[in-house]
Amino acid sequence: MKLTHKISMVAGAALFALSMQNSANAQMANVWDGAYTDAQAVRGEQSYQEHCSECHGTQMQGREEAPALKQGAFIYNWDGMPVSVLFQRLRETMPLDDPRGTPRKVKADILAYIMKQNGFPAGSAPLPYQNSRLKRIQWNALKPE
Ligand code: HEC
Repeated sequence: MKLTHKISMVAGAALFALSMQNSANAQMANVWDGAYTDAQAVRGEQSYQEHCSECHGTQMQGREEAPALKQGAFIYNWDGMPVSVLFQRLRETMPLDDPRGTPRKVKADILAYIMKQNGFPAGSAPLPYQNSRLKRIQWNALKPE
């Protein structure tokens, strides 16, 4: 095979990979875009105090075995992942003593409050509670350039 042909094949593959990446990014929203509403975070705070604060602390600072749910290690634990992964974690394992006792919508409100506590801005639409939609929002510890 001629070298020029090889080069154009490599370049073509690279361009294809790049365009795939761009189209994936285009469908992906980000926690920095405003992925919840203020009203939702206010509701979420009440539910958080009711269902989560006895272990994670009234300020999400963490207590005993329960880790902090804001800033520091926490914000990096979920870096680069779709918010659906964190939502599933809350949905299936928290509160430790009764994970299924809290409805999905309430869990989404609590997650909105967690986002607020992690410094992500509020927006005009509430955080959804459907996995198919949460999959399209990415959690980034740092605001993308
Ligand atoms: C009975 C105590 C208890 C309650 C109540 C509780 N948690 Fe937890 N949570 C823990 C413990 C202990 C861990 C760490 C061990 C584990 O992951 O099981 C944890 C871990 C977590 C994590 C994983 C943190 C990370 O970065 O890995 C999240 C997120 C979380 N809890 C959210 C919540 C939310 C939201 C609520 C309320 C709906 C809640 N928890 C209620 C005890 C609790």
